[in-house]
Amino acid sequence: MTRTQPQPQPRPDTNCRPLRVAVVGATGAVGQEFLRVLHHRGFPIAELRLLASARSAGTEMQFAGQPCRVEELTADSFSGIDLALFSAGGAISKQFAPAAVEAGAVVVDNSSCFRMTEGVPLVVPEVNPEAIAAAGIGFGDGLRPGIIANPNCSTILMLVAVTPLHRAAGVKRMVVSTYQAASGAGAAAMRELEQQTREALDPANNGQVLTKDIFPFQYAFNLFSHNSPMEPNGYNQEEMKMVRETHKIWGDAEPAAITATCVRVPVMRAHAESINLTFERPLTEERARAILADAPGVALIDDRDANVFPTPLDASHRDDIFVGRIRQDISRPDGTSLDLFLCGDQVRKGAALNAVQIAELL
Ligand SMILES: NC(=O)c1ccc[n+]([C@@H]2O[C@H](COP(=O)([O-])OP(=O)(O)OC[C@H]3O[C@@H](n4cnc5c(N)ncnc54)[C@H](OP(=O)(O)O)[C@@H]3O)[C@@H](O)[C@H]2O)c1
Repeated sequence: MTRTQPQPQPRPDTNCRPLRVAVVGATGAVGQEFLRVLHHRGFPIAELRLLASARSAGTEMQFAGQPCRVEELTADSFSGIDLALFSAGGAISKQFAPAAVEAGAVVVDNSSCFRMTEGVPLVVPEVNPEAIAAAGIGFGDGLRPGIIANPNCSTILMLVAVTPLHRAAGVKRMVVSTYQAASGAGAAAMRELEQQTREALDPANNGQVLTKDIFPFQYAFNLFSHNSPMEPNGYNQEEMKMVRETHKIWGDAEPAAITATCVRVPVMRAHAESINLTFERPLTEERARAILADAPGVALIDDRDANVFPTPLDASHRDDIFVGRIRQDISRPDGTSLDLFLCGDQVRKGAALNAVQIAELL
């Protein structure tokens, strides 16, 4: 049986001066998670500004047990702000992140808007924290305001688990299939899955679902190819993000060959991924297991005797990426290929936690 305890997460430097923080998209799935993570990690906050659309302006949210009023996002929202955490979609980031930087803030952006922009660091703290210092962005002497991009959630989960193996044996080729939860599409998608499930189980509806506001397909008791737009090569944008962002984050002179298939499954929260890796050098499953047992942000659930492996429920509301099914790929007898399966809470590590960890590095 292999089951490791979740790794303790680094805490912010308690000597850091408290910051004036804005959360853009505070009422959304990621925004609400931001508030939980900031509180849970004891992030040093001098002032917290919650920003959303005019629809939510005036509503009250809770932070650390205290009521906090939501304000409408405008170009003037960032005056006096040190750190702006954006999770309101690409169009909002494109329009307002430059204004936040202009006002003197460091922006950590959860949208895909700036991820592939040259000069914008794309960061997973367990993988490439050095990219932040290289860009000169931060709060100390000689550092400047700027935008740091949070990678795509499926990319983050994958790279936390795969990068330690890449460092040990050099990933030459990676084949990944995802099983993505409703929460990845936001709070409204979670409500739609819940509503459709009720409708499908209601005898009065004869198994039919009536509500299809977010996805064009029935989601409850079904699954479908990821809803992001298709690219001309037949991959959807989610799949190509996993490829392109991994290349940028790893920054290898000879990038690994990567192919991905992304699927939306009727799970409320936490994504799963099945990953096949081919390495430059042989890597045994025992060595891979030992590497992952020591890897920051990874916890193993790999109990073959009991047939117990990671599930989205294990990963929900947890910081770690849970990895199991670590096995030699029998189609490659030379020992250069492994399979594994992982689950991770993409609202937390795939978005809010990763962004707060970036802010802690600053
Ligand atoms: N969900 C995930 O797992 C995940 C993971 C990684 C990255 N992301 C990215 O994070 C962003 C937010 O995702 P989400 O899942 O949290 O979405 P969501 O639940 O739909 O929340 C969207 C947020 O954006 C706000 N918003 C919408 N239009 C706005 C406007 N015109 N001005 C100001 N605020 C506006 C909403 O405010 P109202 O309540 O007022 O409408 C809400 O707070 C997206 O870019 C997404 O791609 C999400």
